[in-house]
Amino acid sequence: MKLLITGGAGFIGSNFIHYILKEYPSYRIVNLDALTYAGNLENLKEAENNPKYKFVKGNICDEKLVNELMKDIDIVVHFAAESHVDRSILNSGDFIKTNINGTHTLLEAAKNTGGKRFHHISTDEVYGSLGKNDPAFNEKTPYDPRSPYSASKASSDHLARAYFHTYNLPVTISNCSNNYGPYQFPEKLMPLFITNLMEGKKVPVYGTGENVRDWLFVEDHCRAIDKIIHQGKIGETYCVGGDCEKTNLEITREILKMMGKGEEAIEYVKDRPGHDKRYAIDFSKIKNELGWEPKISFEEGIKKTIEWYKNNQNWWRSIKSGNYKNYYKKQYGK
Ligand code: NAD
Ligand code: TYD
Repeated sequence: MKLLITGGAGFIGSNFIHYILKEYPSYRIVNLDALTYAGNLENLKEAENNPKYKFVKGNICDEKLVNELMKDIDIVVHFAAESHVDRSILNSGDFIKTNINGTHTLLEAAKNTGGKRFHHISTDEVYGSLGKNDPAFNEKTPYDPRSPYSASKASSDHLARAYFHTYNLPVTISNCSNNYGPYQFPEKLMPLFITNLMEGKKVPVYGTGENVRDWLFVEDHCRAIDKIIHQGKIGETYCVGGDCEKTNLEITREILKMMGKGEEAIEYVKDRPGHDKRYAIDFSKIKNELGWEPKISFEEGIKKTIEWYKNNQNWWRSIKSGNYKNYYKKQYGK
């Protein structure tokens, strides 16, 4: 089996590549990644010398390149995206290009090369924002995206589904809740807070910190994708979640406690515009049909995550200083 993984130098994509190389040592992987600010080849140091793994620097919007790569693969697992809500609020152009046009380019190439199996990675944010007592999102929840990020992801989901219905492209989609774990870029809540505290800085909580997210350890997400690409039903969507709803303040206090810091390390800052109140996922479909459920508890996951950032300070310090961008040059001489 030969996989084309897009966005494999990012957080979830790199975890997925490590996961596949470990669980399926006979599989071959081509990782297509543009190395935007969020792409970091240091995430894949251990895979670099594996003959089953190949890195291609390139953009998913590059039709010629994508068509060429697509010829020789069995399945696309599509992670590449602009993924940070705050950046989408400041400047959404790249979100439209990558998340919508890039996904379209990949779908076209998959269609034109014999109808390649295509798994599209998406987010629970496409479903909008829940009130306190609303039932959790499931596969039938109407789309209601509210940020440029989630609107662009929703568009890409619609395109993926349209290619299944119109062209019989063998597509599956997963909509997952907030991930956390190793290799997450330190602009997202957990890694930003953990690394700020290690640097003796404060942690910026938006608004009053009452917004709720459902947290899933990244390895559990990788296992869910594994299930879907091997056993998922073509044309179907699967909601993936952690059964772990927490307010941002609860997360913050847990991190503070585990890192021996007090409330004085919190800085309440201006709220995110249009800040979605609550996300929650009902993952009974993937549980009942594919036998997936999260294995790693929040307590275990957060402990592993904090330990990882403590043991990999060069990794995040070089991101925060900007030096990580030299790694590609050093390794590939370009
Ligand atoms: P990330 O920002 O860490 O990584 C994105 C990767 O895509 C980077 O390596 C980047 O270089 C690459 N990329 C961006 N634009 C590209 C382009 N035009 N061509 C080729 N490569 C490009 O993102 P992540 O957190 O790993 O998220 C991966 C996927 O999972 C995204 O589709 C995201 O929407 C989805 N998702 C993320 C979460 C989460 O909590 N992080 C939750 C649910 C779904
Ligand atoms: P984030 O990690 O950006 O993920 P998403 O917005 O995709 O859910 O943010 C998670 C939650 O944490 C979200 O409610 C916004 C909040 N947040 C803060 O309070 N402070 C921060 O510095 C960041 C990055 C996020």
